[in-house]
This record gives sequence, C-alpha cells and structure tokens, in this order.
Amino acid sequence: MAQSVLLTGAAGRVGDAILGGLAAEYEWRFLDRDPPTEDYPGEFVVADITEEEAVREAMEGIDVVLHLAGDPRKTAPWDSVLTNNIDGTQTVYEAAVDAGVEKVAFASSNHAVGAFETDERTPEMYRADDDYLLDGTELPRPGNLYGVSKVTGEALGRYYHDEYGISVVNVRIGNLTEGHPPIDYERGQAMWLSYRDCAHLFERCIEADYGYEIVYGISDNDRKYYSIERAKEALGYDPQDNSAKHDD
Ligand SMILES: NC(=O)c1ccc[n+]([C@@H]2O[C@H](COP(=O)([O-])OP(=O)(O)OC[C@H]3O[C@@H](n4cnc5c(N)ncnc54)[C@H](O)[C@@H]3O)[C@@H](O)[C@H]2O)c1
Repeated sequence: MAQSVLLTGAAGRVGDAILGGLAAEYEWRFLDRDPPTEDYPGEFVVADITEEEAVREAMEGIDVVLHLAGDPRKTAPWDSVLTNNIDGTQTVYEAAVDAGVEKVAFASSNHAVGAFETDERTPEMYRADDDYLLDGTELPRPGNLYGVSKVTGEALGRYYHDEYGISVVNVRIGNLTEGHPPIDYERGQAMWLSYRDCAHLFERCIEADYGYEIVYGISDNDRKYYSIERAKEALGYDPQDNSAKHDD
C-alpha cells in the first residue's frame, strides 16, 4: 500500500516541485495556512502549523511528513522565524511523535551555513575548479536569523530523533528554480536544485531508511561547494540535472 504523506507548506514552490513529480505516487494530505487555489490530489487542511490541534488532526494515519511550511525569506525578521519556523517546527515534531509518524523530512536551507560564504574564499568557492566542499559534518554557521531558525529546526529534529526514535532528514535546500538555472549568477548556479531533482530527492526522503541525517539539496552541478555524497549514500539520491549542462 502507498505510504501516507503529509506535505506542510504545500502551496509553495518546493511543494509544487514535489507534487510535479510525485502526485500519483503516494496517499497525500496537505497543510497550508493559505487555502488552495487549484486542485490537490488529497485532503487539504487549511491551518497554521502553530495550531496544535489542527496539526495533531492532520498527522493522524500519516507515515511520513515533508515539513516545508515556514517563512522562506533570508531577510525574515525574528518574530516571524520564531513563530513560523521554530515554534511551527516544534509543533510539527511533537504531533508527529505522538501520532507514531516514522519519518520527517525537514526543509532546511543553505542559509544554515551561509556565513561560510562571508570569508575570503568567496567567490572562488562558487567555481567549478575550486574543490572546497561543505559536507554536512561542519558546524552550522548561519548568516542571518532565517538561517538561525533552520539550524534550530535541525536541532529540534536531532532532539526528537534521539528522544523518540523518529527518523529525521534535514535537507539543506539550495536554490530551487523552475526550468532554467539562474543565469549570470555563480552562486545560484552552484546551489541550483532543479524541480525534477527536488521531487526525486524528497521521494528518496520518503523511501530510504535512515536515522538522523543532514544532506545538501542541490543538483549535480559542475559548480558546487556543497557535497551531495551524503544524500547519495544515505538516501540513494541520483540527480539528473547540472546547471552547467542545461540547454533549454
Ligand atoms: N525555494 C528554495 O529555493 C528554498 C531554499 C532553501 C530552503 N527552502 C525552504 O523550503 C520551504 C518551502 O519554501 P518555498 O520556497 O516553497 O516557500 P513558499 O513561500 O513558496 O512556500 C511556503 C509555504 O508555507 C506556507 N506557510 C508559511 N508559514 C506557515 C505557517 N505558519 N503555517 C502554515 N503554512 C505556512 C505558506 O503559505 C506557503 O504556501 C521553506 O521552509 C523554505 O525555508 C526553500
């Protein structure tokens, strides 16, 4: 039987990419505070992720949670990331362990390590001939409060995994764009994630067996300073796209 998957933040861009590839593969339930403007292939719960009761109800019978809901702005102010990204993520984890959910994939961000880019290596690190790679074992180094909220989300996952045994994967998503990778923007090309690879990566988050993981969510770009080895090893990620070889 297909697994039951709850997709929070379903109405956003990452949700769009995931559903573009996986709509027919799972028993879906969706949650977003914005009501749907199109048809979704499953029940759509309109609620805020900080609403405990609504999140508990949405979690019933769910095997895997893809937790995307949050404020995605790198300039987001503290009150917003505190509520939407930190409190909301804690509410999701608490309800997930209570409901016996097996796995949570958390939409973390490149901004969890954004301050590695503020040292003397920028912009060489964006170039194909630079072999500098972050691999997820480095200490977090957020460059803004949004990044702090993502590091905190990863730490919440660590706690709920260690304390309750729930499987957790934190996907430090790079730069998702539909269609063509960013043009004349080295940093965006280095961390590009295509829609196709995004759907595949989250499919692996649903299917693979893991304990607690931090992986980078980018395509197999020639320019890269994030390693995708852990995503390959732990999840079986096999990206098809490369920002240097995109020809439409
Ligand atoms: N798009 C990217 O390139 C990228 C990169 C790194 C990380 N991320 C992360 O991935 C996730 C999704 O990003 P996106 O680009 O799809 O953003 P988005 O803004 O397009 O979508 C986010 C969705 O979450 C919903 N949401 C926000 N706060 C909520 C709350 N408190 N309760 C319920 N719903 C809420 C919004 O209504 C929206 O539909 C975010 O957590 C973001 O930080 C995205």
